[in-house]
Amino acid sequence: MPPKCRFIIIIVLVLRNRSNDVFLIRTKKTSYYALLSTNYLNNMAVSYKELGLVNSDELFKKAVDGGYAIPAYNFNNMEQLQAILQACVETKSPVILQVSSGARKYANATLLRNMARGAVEYVKELGYEIPIVLHLDHGDTFELCKDCIDNGFSSVMIDGSHHSYEDNIALTKKVVEYAHAHGVTVEGELGVLAGIEDEVSAEHSSYTQPEEVEDFVSKTGVDSLAISIGTSHGANKFTPEQCTRNEDGVLIPPMLRFDILEEIEKRIPGFPIVLHGSSSVPQKYVKMINELGGKMKDAVGIPEEWLRRAAKSAVCKINIDSDGRLAMTAAIRKVFVEKPGEFDPRKYLGPARDELKELYMHKNVNVLGSAGKA
Ligand code: G3H
Ligand code: 13P
Ligand code: ZN
Repeated sequence: MPPKCRFIIIIVLVLRNRSNDVFLIRTKKTSYYALLSTNYLNNMAVSYKELGLVNSDELFKKAVDGGYAIPAYNFNNMEQLQAILQACVETKSPVILQVSSGARKYANATLLRNMARGAVEYVKELGYEIPIVLHLDHGDTFELCKDCIDNGFSSVMIDGSHHSYEDNIALTKKVVEYAHAHGVTVEGELGVLAGIEDEVSAEHSSYTQPEEVEDFVSKTGVDSLAISIGTSHGANKFTPEQCTRNEDGVLIPPMLRFDILEEIEKRIPGFPIVLHGSSSVPQKYVKMINELGGKMKDAVGIPEEWLRRAAKSAVCKINIDSDGRLAMTAAIRKVFVEKPGEFDPRKYLGPARDELKELYMHKNVNVLGSAGKA
């Protein structure tokens, strides 16, 4: 063989240096070492297993059997992530770290992956190793789900609920095939929630039709199913006209359709069900925000007792984002109003993080029942 070819076709050993994510290539004959560019590294698929994350399989089985729900908290930045992890370690709760496509654009996919890696290390440092799922919230295309699976996510949602029933099945099935080949779990959705669903907004909800669930689950192979029984995204889940008022003038939302949930449970017994749009919109935060210069009119959420009831059923994942936004905003406004001279972000993001942690601990212990289940 000509020396030139020999030089090229030498066994290449790729040794991965995990601590700084730099690859070393060593050729047998030349002992030549090359550093590959970080761009090359970023294009390599990273499995969630390498990051120390878990998929949702085991967690959901235990949650359905144990009559509680796993918290799925959205995060976009470091303070939210710290609060979620601190709260879940302190209450010994498993957790689903939820990332929307908007959050991915905001925080950067590479940073997010490394934040998840950091989350696994951080909980060990906090002294209690809770199981952590990294989940894509409201994935709307196969390409987005694939990109997340290739970038360390252990679970994805493919939200085909805005498509026709047949197209929803086809899209969901395609994602399931790719995801399952990588050990990643998939959440599908049937029925439409009102409010903003990531970048898709729906003015009106349509309840899940129980007679479709068996067919959808068996044809797609999904691991869990998000359903629509009257919850809704955002801080204004219902118009005042849809609500009644109690004697103090507080808006009381229309009852969730627990009858639909029960019918679904009968048709697919023990199958993991997911509730989106499950913020309770605590009125103490709405009041604080309004008194401190904000404007949040007629904000109303899902009462905690209703979520507790749902968590005791086959609902094993409850999605909460807006409540965290309210807690942070209220805490930050408080600092701005009480200390107008403050300009160190740690002085307002720190209290916001503490408030968030309190909120998440309360959810785990009193609403979802996930405390002590890790
Ligand atoms: O369901 C939607 C989540 O609250 C995510 O919201 O798209 O603004 O990050 P986002
Ligand atoms: P909330 O807007 O009620 O917090 O719902 C969040 C959600 O469903 C994320 O997928
Ligand atoms: Zn949602």
